[in-house]
Amino acid sequence: MFDSLDELSRKLAATGYFIDPVMVQVVYLAAKLKKPLLLEGPAGSGKTQLAISVAAAANTHVERLQCYRGVTEDKAIGRFDEGLQRLYMEFSKGQHENWQSVQANLKGRDFFRPGPLMRALECDQPCVLLIDELDKVDNGFEAMLLEILSAWQLSIPEFGTVAAKSIPFVVLTSNEERRLGDPIRRRSLYACRASDSGARGGNHRQPHSEGRGEVSPGDGGDRALVPQLFP
Ligand SMILES: Nc1ncnc2c1ncn2[C@@H]1O[C@H](COP(=O)(O)OP(=O)(O)O)[C@@H](O)[C@H]1O
Ligand SMILES: [Mg+2]
Repeated sequence: MFDSLDELSRKLAATGYFIDPVMVQVVYLAAKLKKPLLLEGPAGSGKTQLAISVAAAANTHVERLQCYRGVTEDKAIGRFDEGLQRLYMEFSKGQHENWQSVQANLKGRDFFRPGPLMRALECDQPCVLLIDELDKVDNGFEAMLLEILSAWQLSIPEFGTVAAKSIPFVVLTSNEERRLGDPIRRRSLYACRASDSGARGGNHRQPHSEGRGEVSPGDGGDRALVPQLFP
């Protein structure tokens, strides 16, 4: 996606995204290693915007899965378009040789309406796959994502395995309503808002807190995302 750190840094700056130089390295490494970038921090800390800005910098598009409580695999992966299947049956009345051929046609890729995960894997050129607010979904859904993010393929019972045409740059975000599972953490490069790293569990510090003797990166209201070695 990017040939050098300098190129990434320059192109991100051109999108208007403010970013710490160390964080640029994390983004660069994630792209190079084809590892998901996991961003944790409170609302407004620039997680979603980073994914959008990286896409703009790489001159590609974003496939976005907005997570919410109750989001289904159908929504993420896709599902058969029943309306289109019915229309096909109407249109092709009497033209089928046998039931097997009808079934084979109806379960083909033409009738499958892909969700963001499948669209990302079907892109000819790598896109940015933004899986936003992953803390809103349960562990089961997270486990389903793991399989895709490590094997870069999707298994759809009706028509088999869809292998990635290109590997997307994956950005996972979390507002920390729930702690994401360790397996997904282990597979990702991790960054969080530094001022919250010692205050997990919603006990966020106020921006620009007064009277502090020392300032560490991101302390006292610095809203930048910074990398962490140990998620
Ligand atoms: N580092 C940044 N550089 C430029 N704009 C930023 C940055 N961080 C946040 N913003 C802006 O702040 C707003 C909220 O950012 P957003 O990415 O939606 O936050 P989050 O996804 O963490 O809740 C957006 O309008 C975004 O453009
Ligand atoms: Mg967001």
